[in-house]
Amino acid sequence: MIDVIKVAKQLKSAVLADPEHFYTNETGAWVTGLPTPQEIRVSTGREPYWINLGYWRDVERVDENNCERVGELFKSAQEQMAHLLAKTARLGTEDTVLDCGFGYADQDLLWAEQYRPARITGINITPNQVRIGRERVKLTGLDGVIRLEQGSATALPFGAGEFSVVFALESAMHFRTRSDFLREAFRVLRPGGRLVMADMCQKTDREAGSGLRRRLRHRYWRGLIAFPEANVWTTQRYVSELTGAGFQKARLDSISADVYPGVNTAITALRGMTAVERKLGSVTVDKVRESVKQARLTPLEQTQWTTLFNCDEYAVVYAEKP
Ligand SMILES: C[S@@+](CC[C@H](N)C(=O)[O-])C[C@H]1O[C@@H](n2cnc3c(N)ncnc32)[C@H](O)[C@@H]1O
Repeated sequence: MIDVIKVAKQLKSAVLADPEHFYTNETGAWVTGLPTPQEIRVSTGREPYWINLGYWRDVERVDENNCERVGELFKSAQEQMAHLLAKTARLGTEDTVLDCGFGYADQDLLWAEQYRPARITGINITPNQVRIGRERVKLTGLDGVIRLEQGSATALPFGAGEFSVVFALESAMHFRTRSDFLREAFRVLRPGGRLVMADMCQKTDREAGSGLRRRLRHRYWRGLIAFPEANVWTTQRYVSELTGAGFQKARLDSISADVYPGVNTAITALRGMTAVERKLGSVTVDKVRESVKQARLTPLEQTQWTTLFNCDEYAVVYAEKP
């Protein structure tokens, strides 16, 4: 029987595309198998609570032979995404960093410990993430370097030229709007400062000319993961928005092939292994292996990021303030 209340709630979320609401209730975009925000417990501060899809280039891919190790492999790929952004920004000890949409602050702990910037300020719209992030920063003794604030990346409570690097790790697609954020990022960067993001968009305007049903389907699913329509950009539009906001040397480097297939098998394994743990007997590891194998064989253009959300591009975005 259809759960009318559940369907009504989903429709409401899809229409509102509200990231704060989404992340108050969900741990990550469509990553079934992760603990809910209410289940998160901080004890050492080092428990991983990453939310990004992972950069799988040099990480062992999840497959039918290693799916029991999905948690460890997913975490490595998510850490690699944070390293990729740090390296793209040439992050170093002189830098003053602003991190927009920091999740549970995993990347800030990693950057502070491994790249030692002078300071990191984080801003995040979701209150429970800010609270947990702060707890973790304190427990790990990094509160002299990292400061976490609640607020929106589209209305930054900081002065002009305060930062040398602005990051948005898989968060700018949620900002309402991404254009407003670009203007704000430009304002708070000092001359020569770098903007570096991991973000989703479209290689071309695949939606143009496609039927109404398909467009509504994409709109519905994007709404569910709090991806507003105003942020549906092609790569070409993305570069012109950066340039229009005043940035120079704007570029998008595609990493879709090192993100989507990897996360596709990881999510399938995570969902399956969680079911095995929670519903003993009704799901077997052999069944999980079979579904992971199917996911591994799924072509890139049939992954949910492309078919449901219509985001066939996942890119590292780089731009500089002149
Ligand atoms: C996919 S998660 C990425 C989290 C983190 N960067 C990571 O990799 O684990 C997106 C994040 O963006 C944050 N967010 C969404 N809209 C925001 C806004 N307008 N301002 C600041 N943060 C926002 C969410 O609360 C969430 O933490």
